[in-house]
Amino acid sequence: MDWKTWYQEHLCTAQEAVQKIQSGSRVVVAHACGEPSAILDAMVANAAQYRNVEIIHMVAMGKAEYCKPEYDENFHHNAFFLGGSTRAAAAEGRVDFTPVYFSEIPGVLREELRPNVTMLQCSPPDEHGYVSLGVSVDYTKGAAETSDLVIAQVNKNMPRTLGDSFLHVTQIGCLVELDTPVIELAPPRITQVERAIGENVAQLIKDGDTLQLGIGAIPDAVLLFLKEKNDLGIHTEMFSDGVVELVEAGVITNKAKTLHRGQSVATFLMGTRRLYDYVDNNPAVAMYPVDYVNDPYVIGQNDNLVSINSCVQIDIMGQVVSTSAGLRQISGVGGQVDFVRGANLSKGGRAIMAMPSTTGKGKISKIVPFLDQGSAVTTSRNDVNYVVTEYGIAQLRGKSLRKRAEALIEIAHPDFRAELRAEFRRRYPRDY
Ligand code: COA
Repeated sequence: MDWKTWYQEHLCTAQEAVQKIQSGSRVVVAHACGEPSAILDAMVANAAQYRNVEIIHMVAMGKAEYCKPEYDENFHHNAFFLGGSTRAAAAEGRVDFTPVYFSEIPGVLREELRPNVTMLQCSPPDEHGYVSLGVSVDYTKGAAETSDLVIAQVNKNMPRTLGDSFLHVTQIGCLVELDTPVIELAPPRITQVERAIGENVAQLIKDGDTLQLGIGAIPDAVLLFLKEKNDLGIHTEMFSDGVVELVEAGVITNKAKTLHRGQSVATFLMGTRRLYDYVDNNPAVAMYPVDYVNDPYVIGQNDNLVSINSCVQIDIMGQVVSTSAGLRQISGVGGQVDFVRGANLSKGGRAIMAMPSTTGKGKISKIVPFLDQGSAVTTSRNDVNYVVTEYGIAQLRGKSLRKRAEALIEIAHPDFRAELRAEFRRRYPRDY
């Protein structure tokens, strides 16, 4: 059958598509801004038809209504990451959490979880019958390739991103044409503290470096201070509008990259329409599945790779907690460890952990003598290198525990330094 006939024969409404989901099945939802909200809405509206459908998702940018208590018997959420719309449900015990490196999710889906259904969003097909997964290639492509059924929202507003970002329409069982706006993420408001952190991080970035940036105000604050740099490159799990600004300003050229020279490489994108228009059909942007982009060995083939991530807490030995506060799950590892390890493998690479020195309106220090009971270490003290706060930079790789503690206390908030020094003297009573 030619692809145009397949396309016509598999067109359906969102309501018809979700009728195909069986009770007890495992459904993977496309990541972040690639979430097909209209199909999820139709599934939730059809809740009474299901018992115990497992929803696997990473960052849920939509309403995540399947987590509501009234759907307890219909849906069960298994999260790889928590965000604003799922944290409360997790705290109330209605969400399971599965720890997994972002780079390993396609393999875990293929080998352990074997989903029945993948729900995603894509661009309309090109003349060869290929749709682009647009802003969310990550684990979405691998999930689609391993599921029994793919339900796709075909959306003219989804940018046609290039790279290994395509599915053929004959891989899709239900095609739902709906031109809803793609979910957008507004640029964050940057505080004075975040600006100071951005300025400190920018001191560690040199002309010709290749950058990985996480989500949020700190990466955006770093970008503010890169306007005088030259020939920066991008190899990152995600990027946002700030990168477009630096491309237009001629700062990001990708000219000095040692892998994918001339292209910004990413696995997902979150931003506004400005970003989505920039990446549409743009050969300067290459989107690949996360088991390629986030593979530490691939990352490490970029010389001078600088990774910038954030965390919740760090103890004076350099153990980094990024996903929980005690037993309270806040987020997920995402690509943090993938990129820290990749940066450590990269010739001239630098892994940076950037965070405000305090949280809780200044009452809680993020640099602590002991991690909170129940907290899980995300980046081990063997992997950590630079830690940056608004008070400065601590370089830890190659330093003894004593030297690390000294460096970290120097960049703690002044209100907490006396307490940290008291613990330091208890641990290291002897002067050298
Ligand atoms: N003790 C107790 N609670 C803490 C805390 C601490 N030391 N640090 C943060 N929190 C709480 C905050 O109060 C907030 O709670 P709330 O939602 O009830 O307000 C929550 O954790 C989130 O903190 P916030 O400072 O708003 O987070 P952020 O948006 O700046 O993100 C991380 C910080 C660490 C959560 C985020 O960077 C992350 O998830 N990192 C791990 C994944 C990663 O690095 N991925 C790679 C690139 S995408």
